[in-house]
Amino acid sequence: MRFLVTGGAGYIGSHATLRLLDAGHEVTVVDNLYRGHRGAIEALARVGGPRLRFVEADILDTAAVARALRDGGVETVLHFAALTYVGESMERPDDYHRTNTTGGESLLAAMRACGVHRLVFSSTAATYGVPDAGAMPITEDTPQRPINPYGASKLAFEQVLRAQTAWLSSVALRYFNVAGADPAGRLGEDHRPETHLIPICLEVALGRRPQLTVFGDDFPTPDGTCVRDYVHVEDLVDAHVAALAALENGTVDGTVDRQTPHRFLRWNIGIGRGYSVREVLESCRRVTGHAIPAAIGPRREGDPPSLYADPAAITRDLGWRARWTDLDAIVRTAWDWMRAHPAGYR
Ligand code: UFG
Repeated sequence: MRFLVTGGAGYIGSHATLRLLDAGHEVTVVDNLYRGHRGAIEALARVGGPRLRFVEADILDTAAVARALRDGGVETVLHFAALTYVGESMERPDDYHRTNTTGGESLLAAMRACGVHRLVFSSTAATYGVPDAGAMPITEDTPQRPINPYGASKLAFEQVLRAQTAWLSSVALRYFNVAGADPAGRLGEDHRPETHLIPICLEVALGRRPQLTVFGDDFPTPDGTCVRDYVHVEDLVDAHVAALAALENGTVDGTVDRQTPHRFLRWNIGIGRGYSVREVLESCRRVTGHAIPAAIGPRREGDPPSLYADPAAITRDLGWRARWTDLDAIVRTAWDWMRAHPAGYR
């Protein structure tokens, strides 16, 4: 099949592209390289050869995206391109709206013009905000009340998708904390700036940072530090493959409904249990064999105490469940890539 992947030079988009290429598909990546890496495209080209096409363009450039769709004979779009830092979104809310919501609408306009009517969208647990009384786990029916412009911009695009079922079949996958790297070591995680817990711990292990600052140890959690649901990027990509199959069939159970062939579907993607910051730190210490000095600092604004998924719906509907449930194993894949690429993609 022929796919277009927006944001395919970024962390999650590149791993999804890799899977499609490994499966023999043709992929056109559209990425403006604002935060994506040319090095990731080069790594993908080594796998896909001529089955990978790269178009350096912004998703806000509707005409360029339409050209890429036509030139690539694209049937289905996986949409990862986004700004994704919660903290930055508080300072630059307009940029988040423009890229994540308006950018998505621009992509849809190009798809509609080209007769492409299948989309998988990279959404986020940040669309839920802080559930009432911290009720966990989060199901797909937990009210979506984002507490930052990042979550709001992603939710706004989900709402756009929900309103487009006259011509579009789409899936929003709401990711919890994505971690790890391609187990074969071909791709990894390289954010500039890096704000995520696991890569920061590993950068300390590599000697690139002096220490980890734990953002608060007085939360109402078992050890006082925040609890998150860490899902391996390979499992996450598997969920996309399962969602694509549901989109192709038009319905979750595989039957084709001719009355309403298009629909909007949404699932949470997490392992269904949380690990605390302390547990993650201990795991990174075990895996790397380094001491990883850490100090307790103040809370980071907007961090809810505990967030983890109820993934029962996607297990029931698509048969997906996380295979990487051991935190040390997840961390090891990230560590292997980082050790082999101490300067990231540069
Ligand atoms: N943390 C620290 N010190 C650090 C970095 C992080 O203590 O230097 C803590 C945070 O306070 C948080 C946990 O580690 O409790 C995880 O933080 P991350 O920044 O790795 O991830 P977040 O949970 O803040 O956010 C991630 C994604 C978002 C997504 C969210 C959904 O970055 O895009 O998961 O759960 F919306």
